[in-house]
Amino acid sequence: MSGFAESLLAWFDVHGRHDLPWQHPRTPYRVWLSEIMLQQTQVTTVIPYFERFLQAFPELPDLARAPLDAVLAQWAGLGYYSRARNLHRAAQVCVAEHHGQLPASLVDLIKLPGIGRSTAAAILSQAFGQPAAVLDGNVKRVLSRVHGITEPVEQRHAEQRLWQLAEAALPTHRAADYTQAIMDFGATLCTQSQPACLMCPIQSICQARQLGLTATIPAKTAK
Ligand code: ADE
Repeated sequence: MSGFAESLLAWFDVHGRHDLPWQHPRTPYRVWLSEIMLQQTQVTTVIPYFERFLQAFPELPDLARAPLDAVLAQWAGLGYYSRARNLHRAAQVCVAEHHGQLPASLVDLIKLPGIGRSTAAAILSQAFGQPAAVLDGNVKRVLSRVHGITEPVEQRHAEQRLWQLAEAALPTHRAADYTQAIMDFGATLCTQSQPACLMCPIQSICQARQLGLTATIPAKTAK
């Protein structure tokens, strides 16, 4: 869709988050760690854990050779401990198979424990500057509203369509900024219950806005 990415990038320049600790410096290891922590935990909670974890394990090989107990101790309080176990195993795979670095391709990233398609794309775009579509809960909400998708977003058909739309929307430049832009946009403006449509730079192309459906899109799965 023309204008979508450019509008989000222009919005991001003014309203997006530019001072997150994993943005400075934006190394693959730091981006990866942040994305795993952010899978089930909000940004403000993650930040102090992120800083502490990096003090304990400054580089990927430090994490790989640490005992699992030490890794879990640093994770204590964040919950969903399988994330920490997967992180530790993935670091060991990177040492064994990728010279101690995160691989710079979607297929290799997805093979690592704890990294699914969206997380792989978040790492590829932010750490390596390559265009790659993310699709987490916030992005699903944004795209389903813009395109007026009334099916429940967790249904397979809707999800496939959302992946296609996410890929079609990708700009060819500013890959890292675009990933952060669409996530920030979903988290802070196009929110679940009180979207700030009057402030929205893409209200004129938003189907949900036009049809008065922002309260019902994204639809919940009927149970
Ligand atoms: N959730 C997942 N990744 C994120 C990121 N990079 N910024 C904000 N929220 C996120």
